[in-house]
Amino acid sequence: MVEMTSPITTERLVLRPFTEHDEDDMFEFESLPDVARYLFNEPRTRENNAEELAVRQKQTALRAEGDTLMLAIVLDDKVIGYTLLIWLSEANRQGEFGYVLHPGYHGKGYASEAAVEMLRLGFEQLKLHRIIGRCDPRNTGSARLMERLGMRKEAHFIESEIFKGEWGGELHYAMLATEWHESRRAAR
Ligand SMILES: CC(C)(COP(=O)(O)OP(=O)(O)OC[C@H]1O[C@@H](n2cnc3c(N)ncnc32)[C@H](O)[C@@H]1OP(=O)(O)O)[C@@H](O)C(=O)NCCC(=O)NCCS
Repeated sequence: MVEMTSPITTERLVLRPFTEHDEDDMFEFESLPDVARYLFNEPRTRENNAEELAVRQKQTALRAEGDTLMLAIVLDDKVIGYTLLIWLSEANRQGEFGYVLHPGYHGKGYASEAAVEMLRLGFEQLKLHRIIGRCDPRNTGSARLMERLGMRKEAHFIESEIFKGEWGGELHYAMLATEWHESRRAAR
């Protein structure tokens, strides 16, 4: 089990659960068509942004299979994105991570700096065996991020689902616990 009792502090960022005060920061980027382009949700309206925030405020722990841990990415007291970890399977010790960043803060390594903490938490606290990440093949920024973190491309599904009204594909990246620990040793 993983429970967020205190924020995660990285070199430049703070990662912490969402609070009721995050509504405007969240809406600032989640209402943008460019941000939602390769996400399953549409750009958020004021109304569904507030509904989504209420859901996220409860996603503060991984207690059982199926749970999602959702953390706001905070820079200088402003929420500039979020990163998440889903506990996919307890028996098979599988997880999935994800990340979204405000376009005004792209190209600075902030998303990677936050997302790697989800891998750390999954492998080192939850003792997962494998963590995956999925993205649209056109989402080159997301694919590059996963490659930068040392994940392996395991699959490229072509026209595997209807995505926003047209055939879409999916890239699957993954990392094993052994690969995580090996990369940490190499980084020392
Ligand atoms: C996917 C997404 C998070 C990537 O954001 P990003 O800022 O490109 O990602 P990173 O934090 O890894 O930053 C990497 C870039 O910063 C640069 N950079 C600058 N300083 C850096 C540093 N200190 N450390 C690492 N990278 C740094 C890198 O060179 C790289 O640039 P490049 O893309 O031109 O090669 C962003 O495009 C996004 O939020 N998209 C919309 C939502 C979305 O699609 N999410 C993913 C769904 S699958």
